[in-house]
Amino acid sequence: MKISRRSFLKAATAIGASLAWVGPARGSRVHWHERRDLYPQGVASGDPDPHSVILWTRRPFAQGIRQLLTVEVAEDEAFRRVIAHAQAPVSSAADWTARVLIGGLKPARTYWYRFTDTDGNGSRVGRTITAPLPNDRRTVNFTFVSCQDVNEGSLNAYRRMIYEDERAPAAEKLDFVLHLGDFIYEVVEYPDEVKTRYDRTIYEVARIPDGLKVGNFHVPLTVDGYRAIYKGYLADPDLQDARARWPFVVIWDNHEFSWQGWQSIQKAGKARAGQNIKVAANQAWWEYLPSRCKKVSGPSLETFAPPALTNVAIEKWDENGLGDEPNNLAAIHSLIGYRTYRYGKHLDLIITDQHSYRSADPFSDPAAGAFGPEFPSMFPEDVAQVLDGGRAFNGGNPPAEVSFNGAHVPNSQRNAPPQTILGAEQKVWFKGQLRNSTATWKIWGNSEGALDPRADPQNLPPGLTKETWPKTTYATLPTGDYGTAYRERAEIYDLVRDAKITGFAIVSGDRHSFWAGYATSELPPGKFDPVGLSFVGASLSSAGTMEAQEHSFPRTDPLRPLFLADRPDGAKPDWTHNMLLRHGVRSCLEYAKSFDLKRARSLSNPDLAPHLEFVDLGGHGYAKVRLTGNEMRTEFVCIPRPIARSERPDGGPIRYRVVHTAALWKSGERPQLKTSVLEGDVGLAI
Ligand SMILES: [Fe+2]
Repeated sequence: MKISRRSFLKAATAIGASLAWVGPARGSRVHWHERRDLYPQGVASGDPDPHSVILWTRRPFAQGIRQLLTVEVAEDEAFRRVIAHAQAPVSSAADWTARVLIGGLKPARTYWYRFTDTDGNGSRVGRTITAPLPNDRRTVNFTFVSCQDVNEGSLNAYRRMIYEDERAPAAEKLDFVLHLGDFIYEVVEYPDEVKTRYDRTIYEVARIPDGLKVGNFHVPLTVDGYRAIYKGYLADPDLQDARARWPFVVIWDNHEFSWQGWQSIQKAGKARAGQNIKVAANQAWWEYLPSRCKKVSGPSLETFAPPALTNVAIEKWDENGLGDEPNNLAAIHSLIGYRTYRYGKHLDLIITDQHSYRSADPFSDPAAGAFGPEFPSMFPEDVAQVLDGGRAFNGGNPPAEVSFNGAHVPNSQRNAPPQTILGAEQKVWFKGQLRNSTATWKIWGNSEGALDPRADPQNLPPGLTKETWPKTTYATLPTGDYGTAYRERAEIYDLVRDAKITGFAIVSGDRHSFWAGYATSELPPGKFDPVGLSFVGASLSSAGTMEAQEHSFPRTDPLRPLFLADRPDGAKPDWTHNMLLRHGVRSCLEYAKSFDLKRARSLSNPDLAPHLEFVDLGGHGYAKVRLTGNEMRTEFVCIPRPIARSERPDGGPIRYRVVHTAALWKSGERPQLKTSVLEGDVGLAI
């Protein structure tokens, strides 16, 4: 596995000047004086392997088109033992961002780095950590995070993470941060146009040149629009401190490109052909987030060099729902996000892109969407399964219509390809990675949750609603992710079972809520047969379901107790929505009446959610993972709703800390989580 200087230099030819090889340690030769104001987005490092890492900064210049910085890497924070010293070009073509690959580093080591311009103006000092060798049995510690809206909130969670890490014993310090997307939100509000949303104050983050306005949101259509947002987000002091402290491993969710977009289609309300918009989003992502993702213009770290494309409507789709149009294919292949990240003996982190190759949303047909209007956010699970399966449902014999109680509508997906989130090409790659992994834990890092969000309205007492939910089916509360991508999810879980893969776990984001449970392709009345673990991490700051429902759920709705239990004293309502997903409607109705948790839980429906151990739709914060040869330990650190920046050095109080541990299971055994609350109050999450 040892990379030779010769092969590294061969790679260097392609990468150009943006590369450095370490040499003997010596004192710094640079007259560095810190000028953070000249490096307004700080520093960062990304995707370390055992011998190399990419370092990043941004140093804008008012004049010229290209300038050279010096980068130094040292074994000590005072830069007395500098082991690499090289030039790092910045140019207006890459919005003055720099990426340098440093090679020849030692595995599992901490290094410090800094950038200096020709006048001695220096960046802040960053810290990075290389990966251990693939046979290294040391414990792996990382955190997974997502959804950091700084337009509507603050990043107290990073402050908390840094505070705790500084005080953690060496064996528990974080090795890297896994960011599962919504690093930015491309939908930007301006505080002079809109002051608040839900509990939130709108903070200034960026002004979008040549954008589009949808409701209160300004949306970018060009690379300069996306760049403006990254600059605004990276001005955040807590995010800057986190990036300067740990290497980040990143993958995008939807908002790095487009809220409701997919493939190269831009969608915020109305869909539009967006091949150039997708490329612009990729370019800005590549410029601001250092990673080993491959771009179409080759391995040079200096500029992205976007392909010239045309925005055209996609009219032809292949058998997997991929838009068969050259500009679409070029746009989605302009940057490849999926990759595997090996970290010692115990971790293969297999990262996938859930948006660039996915098929059309099968649940968008308004006819079926009108089923059960009295049941908020609920959709019949059996109909969702038909629509998800498309023409492949029921062994290729999908029903001509779907129905709910007496209503029948044509099956809109009867001739459509079965839903895919990964797309055919990425799926082949993903399965190969899973099959060939030799690490103890095979962790699938992706932006989208995979745990079913379902409810049992068939158990509601008669008379509460005019229409009665059919006895034959559960309700799903569709999320547009693997929670309702039944067929593809089963295909992956079947592979895990058939190939006898152990140590399989999913870490995901996007849902703005904490979930812990099991990867199973079926739930009762089907066979509950978990093949792995599945987690969703809460948002760092973005508003979640409970905040939205506190503000908008109708007070007089007879089903309100399934979501919010109003206290007689007028205090904030309890979040029965968590209980709905975990225990069902009977528990919620009892709790909203008596506020007796024990009595409510005694009415739990055991067939509803054997796959869930924990769900908190009101949580914010981050999740910490610790991997050893025999255990996966996942800790949810939940903070209060982050509506304003905490001035405390610890980032403010925590709401709760809960830990989920699972011993490594043998093939054929059932994985088992043990959940314990270490501190605070988890409310109705268990
Ligand atoms: Fe998000």
